[in-house]
Parts: sequence; structure tokens; C-alpha cells
Amino acid sequence: MAPPKKTSTAARTRSVTPKRSTRPLAVIVLAAGKGTRFRSERSKVIHPLLGRPMLAWILDAAAPLKASETIVVVGSGAEDVRAAAKDGGWPVRFATQKEQLGTAHAVKAGLSALKGFEGDVLVLCGDTPLLEPEVLRALVREHRASGDACALATSCPDDPTGYGRIIRHPTGHIDRIVEERDCNEAERAINEINAGVYLFDAAALRAALKQVGRENDQGEEYLPDVIAILTARNQRVHAVRADESILAGVNDRYQLAVAEAVLAQRIVRAHALAGVTIIDPASVRIEPGVVIAADAVIGPDVSLHGATRVGAGTRIQRAVVRDSNVGRECEIGPFAYLRPGVVLGDHAKVGAYVEVKNSSVGDGSKIPHLSYVGDATIGDSVNVGAATVTVNYDGETKIKARTVIKDGAKIGSDTMLIAPVTVGRNAATGAGSVVTHDVADGTIVVGNPARPLRATKMTATKETATKRNAKGTR
Ligand code: UD1
Ligand code: CA
Repeated sequence: MAPPKKTSTAARTRSVTPKRSTRPLAVIVLAAGKGTRFRSERSKVIHPLLGRPMLAWILDAAAPLKASETIVVVGSGAEDVRAAAKDGGWPVRFATQKEQLGTAHAVKAGLSALKGFEGDVLVLCGDTPLLEPEVLRALVREHRASGDACALATSCPDDPTGYGRIIRHPTGHIDRIVEERDCNEAERAINEINAGVYLFDAAALRAALKQVGRENDQGEEYLPDVIAILTARNQRVHAVRADESILAGVNDRYQLAVAEAVLAQRIVRAHALAGVTIIDPASVRIEPGVVIAADAVIGPDVSLHGATRVGAGTRIQRAVVRDSNVGRECEIGPFAYLRPGVVLGDHAKVGAYVEVKNSSVGDGSKIPHLSYVGDATIGDSVNVGAATVTVNYDGETKIKARTVIKDGAKIGSDTMLIAPVTVGRNAATGAGSVVTHDVADGTIVVGNPARPLRATKMTATKETATKRNAKGTR
């Protein structure tokens, strides 16, 4: 272990050599805690924010740094946490903290997976999902330029409740961090807080961790105590200030809700700046994987989930869309629900109180009101009348069957399409029909069970026929 002074001199020398930027970087993410204040059976860090585990947001923020090693420290709910980290596809390794004896103890567990590592260690907490890569880059940059043993992120929120407070020397240098529960009154009044984001020189960190005790209110090994240990050895600690909206921690479910709103607004803003009109941003939730073309209009109360794509000029209001592909100039909502696997062609409409699932709807086709369309293939220029249902589920065979509606077909209001069934090109069903058999091209069927009224091309006679049927079946 290098004695304190030598470390900082060596670091300063490094700081003037152009190669300092190539110093190896490792990341340790602390994710072993119980999250008691979260009151959950599951690990806090796997709770979703905009559909992704909290931990995923932190790993994403760190990814642009291209660290040579990323260690996730697991303990409580370890299996779920491992799965969440693996799902994201980041090249992480895991270290186990068997007992949750505090954040310093957790870092020791992380370092045990980094034997022989020399360079910089970025320590992050699994519960700060608002982190942005730019803050981490600034931390690395300033740490390397200063040559100090540690750089840490701080912020000055209006309400510092719950955070460790930064205690500075009269000279302005950071001296130590005191956890809120160990603060005296004067310390509690300080509003500069520790964000739990630190960059350490690996050797200085290892040395300091040996001295961390448990003389505090919780009897735990606190990572922030490393700061006082470093400064007592005349090693400097450098602060990088950032906004609370980037550094906030999530300890309870209210903070989770607030964090989700912050992430949601970041995404909304990015879409707005990329040419999407967003009406009432506060009521809009767009998950990170969603792609929206310019000139789409996202109205109030819209949630877009998963791998959804929205084409140019499409208007959506009061709707939920999951894993669906929506074409150009479509209209969705109000009160529409597109479940996974929907493909809407251009100029299609899914109107009020309509649910569509695992179906394709061709160009210019419309399902304007109160319908359920599941497992259907609908061609171009089809009109699906109000209250139509694709009866796709047979309770006995438990099979989901498909409905095919070909180009130009007109489905009368309140039609039940008993799948598997095909309605041919330019065919029509009368209001209230129950369609149990395939309908040939150009045919009109009516009644329950529906029977051909007469084979006809879709000419003026169709209208008369449909009217007659409406009288006949009601
Ligand atoms: C911690 C800091 C506090 C800082 C705040 C920033 C300590 C003692 N305090 O407080 O100064 O202001 O973060 O958000 O570090 N963890 C483990 N193993 C453990 C304990 C915790 O892996 O034994 C993990 C948790 O899963 C969590 C992170 O460490 O992801 C932070 O722990 P938490 O209990 O939330 O610390 P805070 O009280 O928020
Ligand atoms: Ca926390």
C-alpha cells in the first residue's frame, strides 16, 4: 500500500501525463441491501421504472464509460437481481455479500472480485436510477485531473432528509460525511448531501476500508466513513456537484414514483425535441424502447410500452399501446388498448373503446367503436362496425383461433366472428350476425348463424340488402 502522500503525488504526476485517461476503470454497483424502507418482499433494485428494473437504469448510465470490469454486489434477493442484470446484456460479474453489514462491507465484497485490480473504482448504488452518464464522465475527468484519492458526487436539494451530509473544512475542502441519523443539529441543517456515487483510487480505497468501524447508530460499516479516513491521511477528496434530479436516491415507493416521473419526462422531452407533438406531457408515459416518427401527435393519457413504433403523423390520445407497430397517419383512441403484436397499416383507425391484440390491420381500415379484435388478419379498406367481436377463444380446446377479414369487407355492427373464420373480399355481414362459417368474396351474410343473403358484387344492392337484414334480425 502506498503511503498517503506518495499516492497523491503519484496521482498528480499522472494527471499531467496525457496517458492518464487510459487508467483502468472498474465499476462496483451495490445492490445487496434489503431495502427495508421499501417494504417489499422483493429486492428494491429490481422494481420497475418505465418497465425496466431500477438496476438496469444504473447499469445503462455507467455503460458509456466502457469500464473494464463491472461488478454487481448481490445479497438480498440475489437471484432476481442477477437475472435483472443478465437480462440487460451488460457484461457484468457478481460478488456476493452474504450478510448486509453496510455499504463499506458491500464494497469490500465487490473488491474481492477485483483482486489485483489497479486503477480507478467507480462505486454506485443500485438505488440511484436517475444517474446520467455525463455526471459519471465528469467524475472520472475531474478525478483524474485532480489526482485526488477520491471524487464524489454531491447535490444541494431543498430537502436533504435521509441523506448523508457533506461536512467541509472552513477552507472549503471536504472533510467527512455524516449519516443523517448520526448528525447533530448543526450538521443536519447542512443541505449538501452525499449522492452515494464515488470514484476512488483502488489502492487508497482498499487501504481506507481496513479502518472502517461500526461506531454508528446502525452498527454498520459505512462507505462514507472512508472519506474521513482519507482526509485524515491528508488525501484530498474532490466533489462534483450535480442536480438532485440526477442524483436522487430511491428508498421508498414514493421516491420510486417521483423517480419514474423524472425518467418519463426526460423521454418525453427527447421525443418532443425530435419532432413529436406531445400534449399534456405530465400524463404521457413512453418507455425507453419506443420509437416515434416526427409529426406524430401524442395526446393526453397515453402510455406507450415495450418495442412500440409509431409512424409519422399518427395521432394517439387516451390509449395504451404495447409492443405494437403503428403505421403513418393512423388514429388511435380515445380509450383504446393495443396489446402486443398489433400491426396497423397506414391511415388505419382504432377508435373509442376498442381493444386489439395480436392482429394486423391493413391500410385505411377502421375499427371506430367499442370492439374487440384479437388474433385477426384484417386487410386494407375494411370497416369493422361498432361492437364487433372476434370470438377467438374456445373455452374447451383452449385454442386461440384466427379471424381473417379480407380487403374491402364491411363488418356490420354487433357482428360476432366465431374463429377460425374468414370473411372474403368485399363481403359484408349484417348487423347482429353471428358468423360461424367462412363468407365467400362479395357475399353478404346475415342472422344467427349467419347465412348468405345473396351473392352479389358490392354494388348499390348491398345497401338495400343490409337494411333488409337489419330489420330481419332485430
Ligand atoms: C447511502 C449513504 C448516504 C447517501 C445515500 C445516497 C451509506 C451508509 N450512506 O444511504 O450517505 O446520502 O446513500 O443515496 O452508505 N447496500 C448493500 N449492502 C449493504 C447495505 C447497502 O449492497 O449492506 C446497497 C443497497 O442495496 C443500496 C445501496 O447500497 O443500493 C445504498 O444503501 P442504502 O441503505 O439505500 O443507503 P442510504 O441509507 O440511502
Ligand atoms: Ca439509498
